[in-house]
Amino acid sequence: MEKNVLVTGGCGFIGSHLIDLLVDQGFFVIVVDNLSGNTSTKFLEQHLEEKKATFYQYDIRNLELLLSIPLEFDSIFHLAAQSDVKKSVEEPEFDFSVNTVGTFNILELMRKKDIQNLVFAGSGGTVYGELAASPTPEDYPLKPISIYGSAKAAAEMYCSSYSSLYGLDIVSLRLGNIYGPRSKRGVMYDFYNKLKTNPSKLDILGDGNQTKSYLYIEDTIDAFNMLYQLNTRGFDVYNVSSAKAIKVVDIAETVTKILGIKNVKYSFTNEKRGWEGDVSFVSPDVTKLKQLGWAPKISLNKGIEMYLEWLSQT
Ligand SMILES: NC(=O)c1ccc[n+]([C@@H]2O[C@H](COP(=O)([O-])OP(=O)(O)OC[C@H]3O[C@@H](n4cnc5c(N)ncnc54)[C@H](O)[C@@H]3O)[C@@H](O)[C@H]2O)c1
Repeated sequence: MEKNVLVTGGCGFIGSHLIDLLVDQGFFVIVVDNLSGNTSTKFLEQHLEEKKATFYQYDIRNLELLLSIPLEFDSIFHLAAQSDVKKSVEEPEFDFSVNTVGTFNILELMRKKDIQNLVFAGSGGTVYGELAASPTPEDYPLKPISIYGSAKAAAEMYCSSYSSLYGLDIVSLRLGNIYGPRSKRGVMYDFYNKLKTNPSKLDILGDGNQTKSYLYIEDTIDAFNMLYQLNTRGFDVYNVSSAKAIKVVDIAETVTKILGIKNVKYSFTNEKRGWEGDVSFVSPDVTKLKQLGWAPKISLNKGIEMYLEWLSQT
């Protein structure tokens, strides 16, 4: 018999790739997404047509709606989020309502409907905050500097207490910067579009020295799969990223090289951060995940090449 799982944020970048895998594995996927992230059901259409998924355009801030879903399921992948750090600083209350209260609602849904397993999309790029150790292990103190980072950290704390009080099994994946086809955000997307408009000049947010680690979508989905299959008991967290961090200016170099553009003049805003709330150094330690046998397969260069190829066709 087909097993049902629920995916929130399933119309987004990571969620839609995850659903492709779950459908491939024979799951029937119940998708909840309110399409507020400038997303659509485009990547779901085939699964909906083939009756391998069903879609509810519901807002995770509305617990009553979540409780009204008439289907049975025993696992949730919670990816729905307001995922823009800048916006979280400009509209903290909105971010709180989606990312903190929204996650709280998912936990309430589990408690009230007796749902056992949760895989949560946390954030390895924001929860540790500035001046984190390099690389930063999971047990490093959480000192977020953005509202988004606080919401992701707070959400994990609720996961921990719900797991302990109500016996739920929850794993949080603290994701680094994820990139690849279907992503319409992030530094590579930004550089690609700026260079398409003007190949002779590239405005870089920050001083170019911000250093972060990036992980290709396929390797990210492998980690989701591995950690779901692991059947964590209780509550646990894993950093999910690449082991190597790279400077933003080096990303610019890689993008221009792959696009075959020469003599680009870089200009910087000369701030340490790209924007308010931006963490200028992100390098989560992935030793714990690697000990399970996970290893990224796609190099940064190859990944950027495949992503730019996809962008050029959209
Ligand atoms: N992409 C990254 O680099 C990255 C890094 C760290 C963490 N994450 C986390 O991973 C998850 C997925 O990220 P993504 O890049 O695919 O984001 P995304 O913005 O592409 O997808 C998020 C989806 O959630 C939906 N959504 C937003 N608010 C909602 C609400 N109130 N109710 C129902 N649906 C709602 C959006 O419509 C969108 O389809 C998010 O939780 C994000 O915070 C992503």
